[in-house]
Amino acid sequence: MSRIRGFHKMTVAERRLKLIEETGATADLTKHMNADTDELTVTADQLVENVIGTYQLPLGIATNLIIDTEQVLVPMVTEESSVIAAVCNGARQCCESGGVQTVHVGVGMIGQIQVTGLSNPHAASVTLHQHTEEIRAICNSCDPRLVELGGGLREVQTRILPASSNSHQLIVHLIVDTLDAMGANAVNTMAEALAPHIEKWSTGKVGLKILSNLADRRVVKASACWTAAAIGGEDVCDAIVRAGEFAQIDPYRAATHNKGIMNGVSAVVQATGNDTRAVEAGAHAYAARSGQYSPLSLWEKDANGNLCGTLELPMAVGIVGGATRVHPTAQMCLEIMKIKSAKRLGSIIAAVGLVQNFSALKALATEGIQRGHMALHAKNVAIAAGAKGTVVDSVAARMIELGTVREDVAIRLLKQ
Ligand code: MEV
Repeated sequence: MSRIRGFHKMTVAERRLKLIEETGATADLTKHMNADTDELTVTADQLVENVIGTYQLPLGIATNLIIDTEQVLVPMVTEESSVIAAVCNGARQCCESGGVQTVHVGVGMIGQIQVTGLSNPHAASVTLHQHTEEIRAICNSCDPRLVELGGGLREVQTRILPASSNSHQLIVHLIVDTLDAMGANAVNTMAEALAPHIEKWSTGKVGLKILSNLADRRVVKASACWTAAAIGGEDVCDAIVRAGEFAQIDPYRAATHNKGIMNGVSAVVQATGNDTRAVEAGAHAYAARSGQYSPLSLWEKDANGNLCGTLELPMAVGIVGGATRVHPTAQMCLEIMKIKSAKRLGSIIAAVGLVQNFSALKALATEGIQRGHMALHAKNVAIAAGAKGTVVDSVAARMIELGTVREDVAIRLLKQ
């Protein structure tokens, strides 16, 4: 029976005991988790419901990155073996050409208000625009501190979309500069506060009032060049350009191409306590904005035959509010990067995404990813087979020598 009465009211220690009692789990929960009094566990218990502990993932540092002329060490959280190594390699190869440059286009998060039941949505749209200043005042009164710091409502947009059986719905967009916050709370509060006024002015019925994760008014662009000499010659540049073209015309390839980008993006988003799902939803919706799912990056050669890549994606991340503020490890990660603004964080995330994509394409377009990947993955396989300490390395090394990285092989080697 999965229903446990009052689970949310128990302490972490009580929940752990209850869980063992209910599930008969034989695993020693305390062995897999920090003490229930540990700072991370206590914070986790305040962040979400029904906490029994924290889930550990590897946190590593990407080196060699130069972003907008500044060197930066970038914390990344990922379970995938080759992700951090790939960024370090790709970044090293573009150091001499200056690293990655970034630029931000727009600062606005979008809040949506859906209005239905309108006989004349076009006229309602005009009426709403006539109330722009009142809309601004209502939205800004929701977050005076944001306004004091220079943020707040920037623009009101309306869209008329089809609804069921010949009717239309009016969608109001609030474009809000949320400064250094991701902004979901600020925007959702504004949209909810505005809803009754929208109903009054439009004479329609408000349905949803919620942030859009397609944050296409808050986009970051990153670009970088790799000299042909640094990456193994012009043939390699050509092969990477062709790999990019493959993704341009084929959504099946574009999905994998973008997954590689998100390997880097999500790892930094996660490390800083930001909402990985928000950034991922935004990235994929942006990738599909033309109607065909497309790559988030483009690869071309410059006049000297060097490889240049550009990446563009919505960047709804913050350095204040949410888990970024309360998660001690997220705070530490921001400090390591000396982050002072959400824009700088967005620049770093986009740069890592671009470099990650470079490394994946370079490997794919030359020797394939399995050699490098398996060299790292072999350790996982050895651990899964039961290897411990220095034996992990020797079993992994032997599997690579044999050219077979498989758990059954690791088990056989361990027995030997
Ligand atoms: C694996 O996690 C990511 C790649 O598949 C990305 C790509 O194919 O571009 C290697």
